Amino acid sequence: EKIAVLYGGNSAEREVSLNSGQAIAKGLEQAGFDVVLIDTKFVPLTDLLSKKVKRVFIALHGRGGEDGCVQGALEYLGIPYTGSNVLGSSLSMDKVRSKQIFKACGLPTAAFAVVNKADFAQLSLANILADLGGRVMVKPANEGSSIGMAQAQTVEQLHNALIEAFGFDQQVLLEAWIDGPEYTVAILGDQALPVIHMETPHEFYDYEAKYQSTSTQYHCPCDLSERDENELKTLSVKAFNATGARGWGRVDIMRNNKGEWQILEVNTVPGMTETSLVPKAAKVFGLNFSELVTQILRLSVK
Ligand code: DAL
Ligand code: MG
Repeated sequence: EKIAVLYGGNSAEREVSLNSGQAIAKGLEQAGFDVVLIDTKFVPLTDLLSKKVKRVFIALHGRGGEDGCVQGALEYLGIPYTGSNVLGSSLSMDKVRSKQIFKACGLPTAAFAVVNKADFAQLSLANILADLGGRVMVKPANEGSSIGMAQAQTVEQLHNALIEAFGFDQQVLLEAWIDGPEYTVAILGDQALPVIHMETPHEFYDYEAKYQSTSTQYHCPCDLSERDENELKTLSVKAFNATGARGWGRVDIMRNNKGEWQILEVNTVPGMTETSLVPKAAKVFGLNFSELVTQILRLSVK
């Protein structure tokens, strides 16, 4: 059975995807699959038909790959693929809609406001900042890997952060600042894998802390009590189901200084380099990288 790994693409997370795709292809080859790596920046998807590809492993991060577009194209071509369907992908990619869904489902997530590029000039940034407690995280609605993100606690900082974020998206999420540790929970099928606690000396877990820094620490098994870890896993599975995600993914969550969980987002194609978070959790769970990608692929068999 020929498997195509789709990677690269055109998004701001192209570099991360190139690494994820190569690692996934290697892992599938080790498991004995016949693998073809396809960079969607250069190769049209219809080539999958002439190459007689039977199944696709989506290793594309961000726009075009993680937001339902490639999933829709594959549905159209009739080729099964890993992970979430069109709806689950597009909802999970959009941080504003995701938070609206978490709230509607009674799942804990920090207070937020939404700013559209079109009406940004008319808004009182001072009022918005005050309403959100005086400090915010500014996030393009549809990005990943902390691209375009910045914190702001003055009107000037907020203004500058918005201009930066509007370079990536027409819509920007302002989230009340969460003072506390960040955790992530990998989901495989309907199961949560061991929780990882990320610790960075940076102001937040930014692009550099994620991919370049040697100062980021990953704790897995982490420092939570068994009860807290189970609570967090249950909550993560609920968040994953709420946005319609399926197959596999990763839920990012923080814990504020009152001890409350605050769901950040669901990632439907999380980073999959050999040192990424999901493979770390899988290892503690007892699956090596090759076994992990094989399971993800098996989960795409309907
Ligand atoms: N968006 C990156 C790839 C992640 O969530 O791991
Ligand atoms: Mg993300």
